[in-house]
Amino acid sequence: MLSSQTIALVKATVPVLQQHGEAITRHFYPLMFREHPEVKAFFNEAHQAEGTQPRALAGAVLAYAAHIDRLEALAGALPRIIQKHAALGVLPEHYPIVGKCLLQAIREVLGEAATDEIIAAWGEAYGALASLLIAAEEEVYRANAAVPGGWRGERAFRIARKEAESEIVTSFYLEPVDGGPLLAFRPGQYLTLVLSIDGEPVRRNYSLSDAPGKPWYRISVKREAGGRVSNWLHDHAAVGTGLQVLAPCGDFVLDAEAPASRPLLLVTGGVGITPAMSMLEAAAPSGRPIRFVHAARHGGFHAFRDRVQALAAEHRNVRPVFLYDEPRAGGELPHVGGRISAELLAQQLPADRDVDLYFLGPKPFMQAVYAAALSLGVPAERMRHEFFGPLEALQPA
Ligand SMILES: Cc1cc2nc3c(=O)[nH]c(=O)nc-3n(C[C@H](O)[C@H](O)[C@H](O)COP(=O)(O)OP(=O)(O)OC[C@H]3O[C@@H](n4cnc5c(N)ncnc54)[C@H](O)[C@@H]3O)c2cc1C
Ligand code: HEM
Repeated sequence: MLSSQTIALVKATVPVLQQHGEAITRHFYPLMFREHPEVKAFFNEAHQAEGTQPRALAGAVLAYAAHIDRLEALAGALPRIIQKHAALGVLPEHYPIVGKCLLQAIREVLGEAATDEIIAAWGEAYGALASLLIAAEEEVYRANAAVPGGWRGERAFRIARKEAESEIVTSFYLEPVDGGPLLAFRPGQYLTLVLSIDGEPVRRNYSLSDAPGKPWYRISVKREAGGRVSNWLHDHAAVGTGLQVLAPCGDFVLDAEAPASRPLLLVTGGVGITPAMSMLEAAAPSGRPIRFVHAARHGGFHAFRDRVQALAAEHRNVRPVFLYDEPRAGGELPHVGGRISAELLAQQLPADRDVDLYFLGPKPFMQAVYAAALSLGVPAERMRHEFFGPLEALQPA
């Protein structure tokens, strides 16, 4: 229990965090990587460079300070952080490192404004949040190890198949070296690869793109210009290559309790299609009405086109809508030209808006889908989205 004095002191820092929170977290990461290089490999450098991770941490610290007297208000935000930490293998011993460096960053950025009293209060408040996260992450590790085919920490896999899905996306079928069963992940979840590339450790999340219940996990990776792991996978990883894998996690999951009569609308752009493929594979046989809207630049970049069409041919409840904004002359044709729009989304929605909407893609795409769906009356609690990186804010309009 935090004392009322600590609560008051932390709450009083809200305005300063609103103003300087991001400066603090931008200062914090390089400081921590310098003093504790052992944690650097957990983090994605691109998320540091584009500022999304410092922004996400600043947002979380600010929200914590603002709600420190009624933590239940944070309940919606914590599962994502817990799942992300568990996915990446964050452990209790890492928390004092983050805590020490965060306090040091607060001190260095705020200068004299960060009195000893404020630092002590933040130290105590950080400890309480850390305990909560450590306990929740331990629960995820324990649960993932307790189910059939589950495990804790790294498990050795090997690439059993490597297949191009488009000019830029390649699937990797991963099978456990121990030949044992595989935890039945929930469609929408992702695993983490723990790699060493040119002697440097690196971790990356990849969504599972096939249905659960297979003797493999399939991931489907887009080649990113200048990207370390995606290019290594495309160019160097081959059938037989070994990989260390952390168990699937993630809270962007197909709601298993949804009634089969309620339409499912999956809307994706680019490589955001991967978790939606898993959802589609899992849900298609249920008979549930499914609209599968996918936007790609053109047919050459369109992954899983044939598979989605085959599923639609097999299951009459599945209706695909493909959109290309730059179709190639002589190439495959989309159902619709141009970009995602409110008009197109409206055509996919039932009149009563009783629908489950899942969406994922580049940020501008997600922004467009979110604003359009809200304006069309889709209830916010029926919409779920994922970011292939730290959570970012989407605006209602
Ligand atoms: C939950 C989740 C699920 C995901 N699922 C998938 C999936 O199914 N398929 C998929 O393809 N991806 C997925 N991703 C993204 C994936 O984790 C990787 O981020 C992606 O593959 C790029 O990694 P990389 O190592 O190739 O690129 P990185 O090396 O991380 O580089 C990415 C980009 O940033 C630039 N960059 C890197 N470092 C810096 C720097 N210091 N300064 C400036 N620019 C820099 C690079 O040039 C490149 O353009 C997912 C991510 C998350 C969080
Ligand atoms: C109270 C302490 C902490 C808070 C409030 C916190 C908060 C966050 C938040 C908000 C995110 C972004 C989640 C998302 O939207 O994807 C995140 C991601 C992450 N956190 Fe933490 N975290 C804490 C402690 C730690 C610790 C101890 C570690 C271990 C080193 C850690 C490692 C990571 C990593 C590796 C990511 C993903 C970064 C990336 O995508 O590059 N965090 N955390």
